Amino acid sequence: MQTAAEIGLIGLAVMGENLSLNLANHGFAVSVFNRTTARTDAFIRGRARGTTISGYPTLAAFIRSLAPPRKIMLMLKAGPVVDEVIEQLLPYLEAGDILIDGGNSHYRDTKRRVVMLKGQGLHFVGCGVSGGEEGALHGPSLMPGGSKEAWPLLEPLLLPIAARLSDGSSCCSWLGPGGAGHFVKMVHNGIEYGDMQLIAESYHLITELLGLEHRQIGEIFARWNSGRLNSYLIEITAEILSFQDEDGSPLLEAILDAAAQKGTGKWTVDAALDLGIPLSLISESVFARCLSASKEQRLAAAPVFPGPGGSWSGDPRALLRDLEAALYMAKLISYGQGFQLLATASRDFSWNLDLGEVARIWRGGCIIRSAFLETISQAYAQCPELDQLLLAPHFSTTLNQAQAALRRVITAGVTAGIPAPCLCSSLQYFDGLRSSRLPANLIQAQRDYFGAHTYERTDQPRGRFFHTNWTGQGGETTSGSSKR
Ligand code: 6PG
Repeated sequence: MQTAAEIGLIGLAVMGENLSLNLANHGFAVSVFNRTTARTDAFIRGRARGTTISGYPTLAAFIRSLAPPRKIMLMLKAGPVVDEVIEQLLPYLEAGDILIDGGNSHYRDTKRRVVMLKGQGLHFVGCGVSGGEEGALHGPSLMPGGSKEAWPLLEPLLLPIAARLSDGSSCCSWLGPGGAGHFVKMVHNGIEYGDMQLIAESYHLITELLGLEHRQIGEIFARWNSGRLNSYLIEITAEILSFQDEDGSPLLEAILDAAAQKGTGKWTVDAALDLGIPLSLISESVFARCLSASKEQRLAAAPVFPGPGGSWSGDPRALLRDLEAALYMAKLISYGQGFQLLATASRDFSWNLDLGEVARIWRGGCIIRSAFLETISQAYAQCPELDQLLLAPHFSTTLNQAQAALRRVITAGVTAGIPAPCLCSSLQYFDGLRSSRLPANLIQAQRDYFGAHTYERTDQPRGRFFHTNWTGQGGETTSGSSKR
């Protein structure tokens, strides 16, 4: 008779397969189940052959194979299918059993599922998993949150399979209650969108302004990767740029310029709008994907709007130096915004997120892993209550040093008519942030003029609201004020 499995996994798409292999490689006995039995059979006969993984054709048999309290990881497409599988599992589960959702579920769904299952004596954990197929197999970054009671039982399984940093620590940490884990994963993805768009804009500027070949641009990214921009996304960009198609030409040139998205970037922006956080860079990156996807409209507009024309003349080396600094500065701003979103969600939802720890578990395994995240961990270690990351010493010094380069890069792009929405947005945010006075006084006056929405005065304490009868015809009734 087989020994009871320490963990079960449902959903054998590539992430599910790779995570179960990762668990098996760490010595755990794993049971797997997939709705289509043929897939389970193929996996067991193929990649899982000779491992500690066993496949089961029915949910009943799968559940029977698990040691109590059962730990079951769902690796399913986010959405209704997660609820359907939970419903199918419920008749078989017993108090104390643990469900772990390793998909990209929306944090609100996770929060709802935690509450719903708690009512039945079950524990639910929403666990962000980042790192793609390779990460799942060799060590992802894991972001668990939900029923805290489950953590002592999951920790021995999840810590070993996550990526490891050079100090030996695991890129997995308990993040908080409710939807905290999936929220952190969602913001990870939003930051991923921003990083990718910034890199794409840099590639575009180099191509259009300097006319370099893909292989040469690949060398530039490889060089940047050995400095402060060192990161997985810069590293793969260098490799992608020098990758050749079958005929020897750069494969990148043959790839259609219409970016797809599965929705986690949009969710991040939705959350920022809900919480009133100026997440401008990530928002631009989502819209940049939307505009890229309107390929037909762009093809129709291109001949109608020829743009400024003319060719760029300047020192290519200086431009590349500026671009490296601009890219780094914009990245800092994007992370500053992303961490502000995390900090606000943590406060509003009482999650008590350890933001330095979030930065630490993103340093390995995940798509946005980079040397720079270490700097963020250090900033929070020095000041755990840090409200605005960009005001921490390393950040403020870098922004002051790099702003001239960012302005020069943007000027070159704008003059030549090359779109760089995220680079531009980073500078707009920076200039807004460093403005002790913005023209929002006029916005407030307009709101009060047409809608009696009231305003605060510079010569009165905050929180006291005034209304002016601007035309002499309005009444004294005001319509109140709200911050968000
Ligand atoms: C990860 C990734 C992953 C995400 C893909 C695709 O952390 O491993 O973020 O979770 O699903 O990157 O996302 P889009 O299709 O939205 O680009």
